[in-house]
This record gives sequence, structure tokens and C-alpha cells, in this order.
Amino acid sequence: MDVSEAIRKRSTVRQFRNGSLPDDVLDRIFEAARWAPSPFNTQPWEFVIIRDKETLRAISKYARYSGYLAEAPMAIAVIVPPVNSKFSWVESIGEPRFAAAMAVQNMMLAAWEMGIGTCWVSIEREKVREILDVPKTHFVLTVMRLGYPEVMPTGHEDNFRKKIEDSISYEKYGKKVNK
Ligand SMILES: Cc1cc2nc3c(=O)[nH]c(=O)nc-3n(C[C@H](O)[C@H](O)[C@H](O)COP(=O)(O)O)c2cc1C
Repeated sequence: MDVSEAIRKRSTVRQFRNGSLPDDVLDRIFEAARWAPSPFNTQPWEFVIIRDKETLRAISKYARYSGYLAEAPMAIAVIVPPVNSKFSWVESIGEPRFAAAMAVQNMMLAAWEMGIGTCWVSIEREKVREILDVPKTHFVLTVMRLGYPEVMPTGHEDNFRKKIEDSISYEKYGKKVNK
């Protein structure tokens, strides 16, 4: 599968078959994370692999619209550690978090290529931080659930997304005419 196809066909998956992913498959997903861009190549991402049902259930109580989390075979919490203080200005404007989100996108596409579904879960970060023993200095970006889909999606219809013209301006924000 090429990158364009993975980008176009990937869909969020919320229902999974039982069974955690084998380690070699997880390795490929993490390898994709490794190659995401980051400010000054700080690589501000850490991961907690969660397979324990009790932990998944505990986190699902703090997931905004994701009761299904408890049913997922596994999840990966994405943690943003503080970066070297020499880059603190970059941190102060939030850049490490965006880099970690890019790592997540890489992971989603690598997973998709192997027939594995993913779902970004929005969480109450402070609660999840406590459940996972994440230090206060670190930011919990998301808990991404993943696994083999109950039903493999075939990709969204084109009209599932707004038209790109609606998002593009020329030279100044809101100037819709290219001249
Ligand atoms: C920042 C972010 C937060 C999201 N939060 C949730 C969530 O809490 N629960 C959920 O089921 N899906 C969540 N999603 C997945 C979106 O609902 C999904 O990406 C969107 O509906 C578009 O569908 P698609 O991913 O299949 O293209 C989130 C996605 C992003 C990028």
C-alpha cells in the first residue's frame, strides 16, 4: 500500500476483534513513530503500552466520548516529556505536543498498512496521568486504542470531508480569489 492510499483509506476504528497485537507488529508501528519530525529533532514522545483490562477500564471512565476504550484489546498512551531546557522556548509555544501528534499520525498509517485499526481517544489528562503514574512534568497527549478491526473499513466517501477549497485562502486569510 502506498502512502497516498493509506492516507485516503484510513478510517478510525472503534470496534476490534479480541487479541493484542504481536510484538513484531508493534515494533513496526513504533518504528513509524520514530521517524516523525520534531523541533530540533528533540523526539518528544514516550509510550505506555496498555494491555491490562482493569487499566483500560479505569482510563475509559475519563475518556470523553469513548466508552469503547474498555473493549479495546490494547491501547498506547502517548506521553510528551519535557524537552531539554535549551529548547524551552519551543516548549513554551507547544511544539513538542504537535511533534508527538505527528508521531501518532505516522503510527496510524503504519498500522493501517498492516490491517490494524486505531482510534485517538480524548482523555482527561490529569486523571489518566495519575492512573499511569506519569510524572507531573509530562503531558499525556492521548490514549490511542488499536487492534484488528471487527470489520475492516473500506474508506470514507468523498463527501465525508469538507471540500479543500473551503479551507484555502490566497495571500491573506479569507481571500478566496487567486488573483
Ligand atoms: C485530536 C483528536 C481527538 C479525537 N478524539 C476522539 C475520541 O475521544 N473518541 C473517538 O472515538 N474518536 C476520537 N477521534 C477520532 C475522530 O472522531 C475521527 O478522526 C473523525 O471522526 C474522522 O474520522 P476518520 O478518522 O475515520 O477519518 C479523535 C481524533 C482526533 C484527531
